[in-house]
Amino acid sequence: MQLRRAKLGDVEEMMSLINNYAQQGLMLPRSRNMLYENIREFLVAIENNQIVAVAALHIVWRDLAEIRALAVAAEYMGKGIGKVLVNNLISEASDLGCNKVFALTYQTEFFESCGFHEINKDEMPSKVWKECINCVKFPNCDEIAMMYILDDPKKEIAYNETSISCKY
Ligand SMILES: CC(C)(COP(=O)(O)OP(=O)(O)OC[C@H]1O[C@@H](n2cnc3c(N)ncnc32)[C@H](O)[C@@H]1OP(=O)(O)O)[C@@H](O)C(=O)NCCC(=O)NCCS
Repeated sequence: MQLRRAKLGDVEEMMSLINNYAQQGLMLPRSRNMLYENIREFLVAIENNQIVAVAALHIVWRDLAEIRALAVAAEYMGKGIGKVLVNNLISEASDLGCNKVFALTYQTEFFESCGFHEINKDEMPSKVWKECINCVKFPNCDEIAMMYILDDPKKEIAYNETSISCKY
């Protein structure tokens, strides 16, 4: 599996992967416009010349970033690809000097296995919700907020152990 930054030519495959799960209610849909405008936020995993996973790191504020649009193709689930993507995005947040990474998700066990913990959505700064106005679920969001704290001393060992370098 190759992990690299997304390119403009990846957008159709990325959209198809994400929106297939969005139709099942597992994640939010993404438009071509959103993907083109935010292409620099995305990583893709490639196997046999096909995009088999995608995820993005979106910077929200000085010390806060969001992992969004995480999707692994069904036949590649359970092989550790989701975790590799999340670890690389956490590593990217760390390089940027960002201390906290969150996700809004239904996949709480997956994110727990990546070192995240559930938080009360009320703890999130209001800037997070500004972008939610355009979401189909607004104002009845039932996703769960999960947080990863990079400088948590309890986590340092686990984070160093699971950090994986990426060739993008
Ligand atoms: C959630 C998702 C990204 C996980 O990706 P994945 O590549 O299958 O997960 P991994 O193989 O990296 O699993 C990592 C760990 O999470 C656990 N895990 C993964 N999915 C899980 C699930 N649905 N329930 C419980 N545990 C799960 C694995 O058992 C593994 O545990 P381990 O490290 O202790 O062995 C993938 O299932 C997916 O794309 N789902 C559909 C779209 C979606 O829901 N995206 C999330 C939007 S926020």
